[in-house]
Amino acid sequence: MKILGIESSCDECAAAVVEDGTRVLSNVVATQIPFHAMYNGVVPEIASRKHTEWIYGVVKEALDKAGIGPEGVDGVAVTAHPGLLGSLLVGLSFAKAFAWARDLPFIAVNHMLAHLYASRLLSDSPELTISVLVDREEVLYPFLGLLVSGGHSIVCRVDNFDDITVLGTTIDDAVGEAFDKVSKHYGFGYPGGAVIDKLAQSGNSEAFRFPMPKLDKGEHHYDFSYSGLKTAVINQLEQFRVKGKLTQPNSTAGSADITRSEGADIAASFQKTAVEILLRSLFRAAEDTGLKTIVAGGGVAANSYLRSRLAGQKELRCIFPPLDLCGDNGAMIAGIGYQYLVRGERSPLNVTASARVGGFKRRYP
Ligand code: KG4
Ligand code: ZN
Repeated sequence: MKILGIESSCDECAAAVVEDGTRVLSNVVATQIPFHAMYNGVVPEIASRKHTEWIYGVVKEALDKAGIGPEGVDGVAVTAHPGLLGSLLVGLSFAKAFAWARDLPFIAVNHMLAHLYASRLLSDSPELTISVLVDREEVLYPFLGLLVSGGHSIVCRVDNFDDITVLGTTIDDAVGEAFDKVSKHYGFGYPGGAVIDKLAQSGNSEAFRFPMPKLDKGEHHYDFSYSGLKTAVINQLEQFRVKGKLTQPNSTAGSADITRSEGADIAASFQKTAVEILLRSLFRAAEDTGLKTIVAGGGVAANSYLRSRLAGQKELRCIFPPLDLCGDNGAMIAGIGYQYLVRGERSPLNVTASARVGGFKRRYP
């Protein structure tokens, strides 16, 4: 069964064809990064306009690369939430029209659950690199999920592809958001996660000591926070300025106030702390629940320090999506869509998009 998956929740206009929920036949991601980079963040109005311009071509390319025409599609899946409303509506409307025109089963899915599903995808394509993957055998529920993106940071118990219980979450910024904001302040580039990850490779992660949040007790046992870390790292830039480095001649790190090697040290020290904050909650949850399998998903799951730290855990089995499927893509939408469709579920064609979605926050007693 070949499912067309469409994703337009933020700044990636994406479509893919996936067979039987796992085999990626094509995966096309048209990124809008160059159009948002000058603003150091996604501009919703630009994003939805670009999706409108690109969606037809992206879907056509996904079908072409899968070697099928519209008649070869057996069902359509699309992201309906959470995300930028204007952007979501473009993909959702296109998907509805496609399904209606060909009288196909149609399902609207949750973007974050799809991120968690991404590690189940397989590909023969050389374009999709499988890196730290430990084991590709069927993931057995229950396991611990680590959902880390630009908008969410969640540690959860996962009992099925559509059944998660949030154990811990951020009480302020998402982890990807912290990467993006630090990068913006230092002028490292946009989006911040991949840039900081790369810069950190040449830096010393012990050069700066940034604070870990104190959230170990009571109801916040598995929660985390990024605003303190973000503020400390940004304040460090002020310290560089105060030290009179404003005229540094060999600065190439992005900010005019620091050298490249200072920038790399900041990136490495920040990245290490940001990941250790996640891991502290994750390891606590693993210990308390006894769950030994961890499945990661979302843009930050591409982070090399996070991947190597988890791959080094002897008692835990850690599964990551292929690098190319950590960020937003249509394959994860098609994959999870297939699971709903084979269960007989369908969405009505009047289903609408929503920016936020319930069930992704912890309920405090
Ligand atoms: O899942 P995603 O593509 O979109 C959302 O659903 O938000 O995640 C995007 C986030 C951005 O904040 C980006 O900076 C971050 O993922 N990111 C990374 C890396 N690659 C992307 N963060 C850390 N290290 C990376 N290598
Ligand atoms: Zn995402």
